[in-house]
Amino acid sequence: MKPITDARGLALSGLDADQAEHYDALLTDLYLYRPGVQARLQDLLDQAPGFVLGQVLRGYAHMGDGLSTDVPEARRYLALAQALPEANERERLHMAALQAWVNGRVAERLQALEDLVLRWPLDLLAYRQLTSMLFWTGDKRRQLAAAMQAVAYWDPSVSGHALVLGPLAFALQEAGSYELAETHALQALEQHPLDLWALHALAHVHEMQGRLQEGERSLSAVADRLNDFNLFRGHVWWHLALFKVGLGRLDEALALFDQQIFPGPSVFYLDIQNAASLLARLEIQGVNVGERWQRVADAAEQTVGQHLVAFTWPHQALALARTGRSPALAAALAGMRDQAQAGADQAAMAQAVSEALAHYGAGDHALFMRQMRPLRHDAASLGASHAQQDLYFQLLVDTALHLGDVPLAQSLLQERLASRLAGAPAWPRLTEVARHMAQERDPARLRALLRTGGLP
Ligand SMILES: [Fe+2]
Repeated sequence: MKPITDARGLALSGLDADQAEHYDALLTDLYLYRPGVQARLQDLLDQAPGFVLGQVLRGYAHMGDGLSTDVPEARRYLALAQALPEANERERLHMAALQAWVNGRVAERLQALEDLVLRWPLDLLAYRQLTSMLFWTGDKRRQLAAAMQAVAYWDPSVSGHALVLGPLAFALQEAGSYELAETHALQALEQHPLDLWALHALAHVHEMQGRLQEGERSLSAVADRLNDFNLFRGHVWWHLALFKVGLGRLDEALALFDQQIFPGPSVFYLDIQNAASLLARLEIQGVNVGERWQRVADAAEQTVGQHLVAFTWPHQALALARTGRSPALAAALAGMRDQAQAGADQAAMAQAVSEALAHYGAGDHALFMRQMRPLRHDAASLGASHAQQDLYFQLLVDTALHLGDVPLAQSLLQERLASRLAGAPAWPRLTEVARHMAQERDPARLRALLRTGGLP
């Protein structure tokens, strides 16, 4: 009997050919960020409980929610997969990746995912798991390396080809290869005009190159469709808000916060990151954000000690400190210290950065500067993109200006340009901007440079 395979010819255990087609369709929809995929997967598993990779994927999804409270469910799906009598080598390696994830073993998880894409380069699930994992480890070189490794095997004749282009575009963008990133993002969008990860990679290119009008237009053009997608959409809205901040349309950014970015209670880690980051940026630009920090702090307080994505922690600490929630903040920082002492990956850095941001939130400028300044580059090891990590520099420049230290503010603004360096063509403009920053001594104008990076 012919083995059942996915659309790329990789063997699948525990389902029939029709069910394999359903699986292919839902995997595509998963990576197009369409809602309802997990419910469809659960339906498929109800029909085919022996579908090994389906059980693993349910486990991955629970872990992907980023909360420790979801880990028991992920473990339950892992156990269901492990109990199945039939599993091939690839499926067993996916189980090992999930096992490492639920046990918090970062290196083991990375190894399992790398082995998967090495041995089965067309394993779309493994490739997207790997690239998404690397996003949160902060290792941009490895992100690009993983994307480069895949290009040898994927071409337009392979089913799902467009779904590897988004991560490739994104990795190229983080590495400063903006033209190549844009080409690949546009190629992905030709196949799926609303491929959110490709749209998002393109938004990053616009942001990093200071193409604010283009970025604003590109995302506004899909705005009426964004809410057809899953929770990742909130981050795309956040990017639209950043463009609006850059263009000086601060009221519109604030309206986006209320309507799209943090419209109601949410403990989703990206929502907390997006919300805290946007409020801080708006306040730096002099916007009165009213009671909005309370909403973010409610979510932060509700999930003290529960977030698995370390980049969330400083945002959580900032929201708690900004609203004076001392007991919750103390509990959060104590939990981070425990994790750091236990040797949890990223925990020591996340704790140090969180303590620093708590000082900022409490209005203690000198303490924030003292603690954050030495960490400003190494904090990138907490993961996320240059655009998200820019929060650290936003807060530092703002603080330098509060402290009346104009030379420090200038220097930080100049350093900030390094993440936007993109080869020889960008050099004359960046050096011109750096020289301009050296001449500019007016605090209000220096602060305004934070909106745009000082780029045209
Ligand atoms: Fe982003």
